[in-house]
Amino acid sequence: MKIGTGKSYAKIILIGEHAVVYGEPAIALPVKSIRLLAKVEPIPDGRQEVTSAFFTGDLNAGQLTNFAGIAMLIRRLLVFFNAADQGFHLTITSALPSERGMGSSAATAVAVVRAFYDAFQTSLSHSVLLNWAGISEKALHGNPSGLDAATASAEKPQWFVRGKSLRSIMMPRNGVLLIADTGIAGQTKIAVDQVAQKLKKDPKTYQPLITDIGDAVRQAALALAQDDIITLGQLLNRDQADLAALGVSSPELDRLINVALDNGAYGAKLTGSGMGGCMIALAAADQAPTIIQALKAANAVKVWEYHFETK
Ligand code: MEV
Repeated sequence: MKIGTGKSYAKIILIGEHAVVYGEPAIALPVKSIRLLAKVEPIPDGRQEVTSAFFTGDLNAGQLTNFAGIAMLIRRLLVFFNAADQGFHLTITSALPSERGMGSSAATAVAVVRAFYDAFQTSLSHSVLLNWAGISEKALHGNPSGLDAATASAEKPQWFVRGKSLRSIMMPRNGVLLIADTGIAGQTKIAVDQVAQKLKKDPKTYQPLITDIGDAVRQAALALAQDDIITLGQLLNRDQADLAALGVSSPELDRLINVALDNGAYGAKLTGSGMGGCMIALAAADQAPTIIQALKAANAVKVWEYHFETK
């Protein structure tokens, strides 16, 4: 084993979360300015240590924390490399806020898998990477679509359908996406479980919402192809209405969404699993400063400005 490194990005789901779990498409972007780095270094005794913002300590102690999924992933990687007792120090440095719908857990998994493959000097295909990331994502919320890991490991915006191969998708040539953090932890497992329960108990009410999200995503792809950000904004609003009806929005998300719309955004919605976490707003570039100011005045703990990459 040598020193190994791996990186990944924050992900933002533009449209299609939750319905993507049930086979509908979704569109998501890697935010390359917000990255996560993993560095694994061999150490001579058998200690297996982790340093990160969300867990620091012995790998075994990680089993009892929200690091459990990643701890399990690391142990399986070590078995795979025939190095179960290998001593190491893993350092995870992240600019992603955790539990805010920006894919922190998937980004951690992606960077950690890349770092261990690098350390064991083994080439890694994208599909194998996503299979590994699925292990910790499954531990986290039971039924991951794979969208988060696919986007955290991508270089370009993605059109994603569960179980199908990924496709890059063009972003608009104008407009910006503002991302605002409510400061409240999102609750991926609870949100995904809640949608599953609702679909099981009352499919007549809830299945049409899933289908409508899928339709909105397909229309969003068309709007993107036509560089029509006004229609795209309307589709984000329609998606948000469906997500709210599914019960995964929150008063804090609703408040920031309304602030963005009141200040001239074309559309705004939660991003990720919801019930907290971040919202996004699509806006004309010259309107962005006003909206950013309004979001901050409305207590968004952080606001990022994302400029679409068109290449
Ligand atoms: C979470 O970022 C996205 C969800 O659609 C869950 C998933 O796709 O696994 C809510």
